Amino acid sequence: MLFSKNPPSRFLLLTLTFVLLLSFSININASDPTNSEDDSDDLEQLLALDEQEDQLPEDQDQESSSRFSEAEVLSKAQRIVLELNSDNSKRVIDENEFVLLLGYAPWCVRSAELMPQFAEAATSLKELGSPVLMAKLDAERYPKVASLLDIKGFPTLLLFVNGTSQAYTGGFSAEEIVIWARKKTGVPVIRINTVTEAEDFLEKHHMFVIGLFEKFEGSDYKAFIKAAMSDNEIQFAEASNIEVAKLLYPDIKATNFLGIVKSEPERYTAYDGTFEMENILQFLDYNKFPLVTKLTELNSVRVYSSPVKLQVYVFAKADDFKTLLEPLQDVARKFITKVMFIYIDIVDENLAKPFLTLFGLEESKNTLVTAFDNKGSSKYLLQSDPTPSNIEEFCSGLLHGSISTYFKSQPIPDNVRVKFCVSLISLT
Ligand SMILES: *[C@@H]1O[C@H](CO)[C@@H](O)[C@H](O)[C@H]1NC(C)=O
Repeated sequence: MLFSKNPPSRFLLLTLTFVLLLSFSININASDPTNSEDDSDDLEQLLALDEQEDQLPEDQDQESSSRFSEAEVLSKAQRIVLELNSDNSKRVIDENEFVLLLGYAPWCVRSAELMPQFAEAATSLKELGSPVLMAKLDAERYPKVASLLDIKGFPTLLLFVNGTSQAYTGGFSAEEIVIWARKKTGVPVIRINTVTEAEDFLEKHHMFVIGLFEKFEGSDYKAFIKAAMSDNEIQFAEASNIEVAKLLYPDIKATNFLGIVKSEPERYTAYDGTFEMENILQFLDYNKFPLVTKLTELNSVRVYSSPVKLQVYVFAKADDFKTLLEPLQDVARKFITKVMFIYIDIVDENLAKPFLTLFGLEESKNTLVTAFDNKGSSKYLLQSDPTPSNIEEFCSGLLHGSISTYFKSQPIPDNVRVKFCVSLISLT
């Protein structure tokens, strides 16, 4: 189970979210054959577009799809996800080797956020020829089936392997769902043999681990594969030709090599430990985040559970942050693996407000820098101007324990305290 039945929603739900949710349930219905008599204008339009698209010859399909809006592509993707019900669920689960099931409730905001990612992942997996069948179940409409399949909250993702379920442990973007599903169904690593394959791979992956091995055998290679299977979110690639591998990681000098590549200024990090699964996984945990991570609903659980427990949060308006990002990355570079830097859009009520309330600064619109030590759950506030040099000094102080924790004079409202604890502490 991913989330409890009453998910610890970051804060008051915005009306906007409900509007989104509403438009989303229309999409869900559009893919449900039992609702085909529903002849709303929207639905007819979507179906008409789908037919148009289907009639195009194969080779034009890709080109033309760029003309279609996201919603239209999404509606097509939704149809690749099989809708389970009381009649078909047992058969589908029993008769397929791999079924990745999304249990959702139409009213649940997190379900609505996950659904398009899930549908997009279904499309990619199909294109990749993956044996995973992607299915979804409206757990509110079919509570008996949901209970049989052990779906207790929304959304729940489960992987059934020959009828036996295991919990989903991957990330929640379409790309991450694809990576996880392939890791758990026989493709833990993508092998790169040629320059073309390397170029192709680079186009599709923003972040990956590259392993260069003289031969795909031996204990180092085995540890690499074990790490690839055990890791839940990063795509692993392997090569045995150094020239090909250099396209993915230019600085490779010799085999056996392992490095992580990210799409940001601090792009390459080489692993310098011994090839053992635990050590490789630990290296990845400390090095997988960018210099500055933008917090979103989708990555919040990952961020809170990072092994880097000293976390500096920068709250700023998106425009103000644009000029701050580069200097902040330079500061972050000095504290790699010691301090994690997180950016939150200060006007994003759901994400920013619970934190700002802890400092009595919920009305603030100016750039603010705070820090949390998730080990001791202490909180800190940068009291001077948030200039890069002040931020750097603040971080050094935090590391040396010379910054005093922040105590707010006003009491923290109970509901905020509870939400804060659930989201920041109990998930670590
Ligand atoms: C699932 O069952 C089939 C048939 O018994 C078997 O060949 C296959 O290896 C099983 N798959 C997994 C992943 O265990």
